[in-house]
This record gives sequence, C-alpha cells and structure tokens, in this order.
Amino acid sequence: MRQRRPGLMAMSRSVAPAVFPPDLLTRLADALELLAPEATEDFDDPALRERLASVEVLVTGWSCPRLTAPVLDAAPRLRAVIHAAGSVKAHVGAEVFARGVAVSSAADANAGPVVDYTLAVITLAGKRAFGLANAYAAGRFPRFAQRHGNDGRTVGVLGASRIGRRVIARLVAGGYRVLVSDPYLESAHAAELGAEQVDVDELCRRCDVLTLHAPQLPETHHLIDERRLALLPDGAVVVNTARGSLVDSDALARACATGRIDACLDVTDPEPLPVGHPLRALPNVWITPHVAGAQGSEVRRLGEFAVAEVERFVAGQRLLGAVHIDQLQLLA
Ligand SMILES: NC(=O)c1ccc[n+]([C@@H]2O[C@H](COP(=O)([O-])OP(=O)(O)OC[C@H]3O[C@@H](n4cnc5c(N)ncnc54)[C@H](O)[C@@H]3O)[C@@H](O)[C@H]2O)c1
Repeated sequence: MRQRRPGLMAMSRSVAPAVFPPDLLTRLADALELLAPEATEDFDDPALRERLASVEVLVTGWSCPRLTAPVLDAAPRLRAVIHAAGSVKAHVGAEVFARGVAVSSAADANAGPVVDYTLAVITLAGKRAFGLANAYAAGRFPRFAQRHGNDGRTVGVLGASRIGRRVIARLVAGGYRVLVSDPYLESAHAAELGAEQVDVDELCRRCDVLTLHAPQLPETHHLIDERRLALLPDGAVVVNTARGSLVDSDALARACATGRIDACLDVTDPEPLPVGHPLRALPNVWITPHVAGAQGSEVRRLGEFAVAEVERFVAGQRLLGAVHIDQLQLLA
C-alpha cells in the first residue's frame, strides 16, 4: 500500500468543516495520513508536539497561527504548506521559505467571487441603482432623465493583480473602455489585456468608475487620498473590494458628503467602521461587510483547490498556487 505523508490541518475549527466537507476530507485523508481528526488553532498546544515532529504537509486556512521559528523548529520534516484561503502573509514569512518548504495559496479560487461581486457592483453603480433603490423605498419613481446606463463608460482599474486582471478581462468583454494603473504591469501585457495603461492621476481624472484591486502594502496606503479624489469627474463612483487602507476614509467621507462622487465599499479602514462613522450614514455610500471573497457555499472552492494541490504535491507535480519568496512582498 502507498505510504501517505503525515499531514495536519491548521485553521479555525468553526470554518474547517465548510472548507472541507466530508467528500473533500475523505480525499484529503486519502492523500495524507491525517495526524489529527480536527484542525488545530494553536501550535503551542503540548498535545501537538509529537505530531509536529512528524508532520510533512500542513493544510492551513483562515486563523492559522503564525509559523514562527520555534514552530518550524518543532516541525523539522515539514515540506509543504498548502493554504486553503487567499493571502499566506499572516502565517507564512521568510523563515518558512528559508527551510525549503513549498508554499501554495488558494488565492486563485478566492478570486472568482470577488471578480463576480465587483462586476455586479460596477453594473449596478453605473445605473445609480443603489441611490434609486433608496429613493424608491422613500416612495419616488425616477423620470427618464434620472435614469443612467453603462454604455460608453470608462472604468479605471487600480492594480493588475490576479483579481484586477480578471476584472479587466470581463469589463473589456462587456464593452467598457478600461484604463489600468499598476507600476508592475508591462505595457505589452496591458495591451494584451485590452486596457490602456496610465498613471494613477490620469486614471482618476478619466474614469467614471474607479475600482481598486491593489494589495495592502506600505506604498498603497492612502493611494487614493483627498487630492486624487478631487481629480475624479463629477458623478464618478469609487468601488473598493481590495483593502480599506488604499483609500483615505475621512477624505472619502468628505468627498461623498458633497454628493459629487459615490462609493461602493466592501472593505473599509478601520474595519468594521465604528457606528456613527460618517461613511455609514451617507445615502450615496453603499457598504458591505467584507463579503466579496468566498463566503458560505463558496468556501468549498478553497477546499477543492487545496485538496487538488495536496494531491499534486504528493504526486510530485507542479503546484498551481505556488507562492515564491520573491513575490511575497508584492502579493496581497
Ligand atoms: N473583499 C474581499 O473579500 C477580498 C478577497 C480577496 C482579495 N481581496 C483583495 O483584493 C486585492 C487583490 O487581490 P489579489 O489576490 O488579486 O492580489 P495579488 O496578490 O495578485 O496582488 C499583487 C499584484 O498587485 C499589483 N500591485 C502591487 N503593487 C501595486 C501598486 N502600488 N499599485 C498598483 N498595483 C500594484 C501587482 O500587479 C502585483 O503583482 C487585494 O487587496 C486583496 O487583499 C479582497
């Protein structure tokens, strides 16, 4: 019989059953000798010491504790960290790569719902559907002149990230004019995507919708500040499904309060926004509680990706979600 590599799951116990429902858990247990039936949430648990000593594959997920040097010392046989969620940055650092451990993320599987969500929001925002819904609830029915359409609109995409590129592809296919700004995007690649590459100021000046898809990094902090918000044309909409810190929240609240621009936010800074924050009260600001990524029935996608990745790893195949140390700084 084929010898299975020892594996452990490390993630929130309340989320694990949704990410790995019984059929996926069976596949995982077929690929790995699971050293514990339940996911661990604490690497310092003394009961885990023996298991860490023999573990070769860690299957991680949301709330996985950080893989610190002492944890890695306790797991000398570790060969792979397969993450059943998006960003690995919270639990994986340079010390993991330094020990030759392969790292994989299911960010690709998490991207799909964000792309769908973004396209839906851009479509509805272009029709001013959120404001019209409020007006309708208050008993008003819009006249012809108060109705808006999406044809001929220009969308500015900040960040040709994994999600940003997919958003661009869908927008181009849908007939939108697309501008993109990303210091790491080669112009040939922008042309292949069907987008015009511009700098951030020009992006703001020329777009009807500004959609944010860059990662949270020191250099993207408040990339959209008071000055750049002022560059947006009247009636523009800021869509943020990336991270709240990309936008100066106070400046956004001031700009939206004038009624000159609108915002649709899935992420905020801080998150959640305190009760009473001006952004919560504005009729032209529509906020959802960080739900664009995989939620509910969608989190199974993360488990499916991770199980397939484990199967590839044990078969000695290339990891499709491989994360490399040199990319880590730029990634979400
Ligand atoms: N709302 C949600 O539920 C949700 C879910 C998943 C991801 N996200 C967020 O969506 C965003 C995109 O995620 P991803 O996985 O596609 O990211 P990613 O890891 O692919 O992002 C990396 C890329 O961003 C681009 N980039 C880096 N620095 C930039 C800069 N200064 N300006 C513009 N572009 C820059 C580069 O092309 C880089 O390769 C991130 O902010 C992520 O946190 C949100």
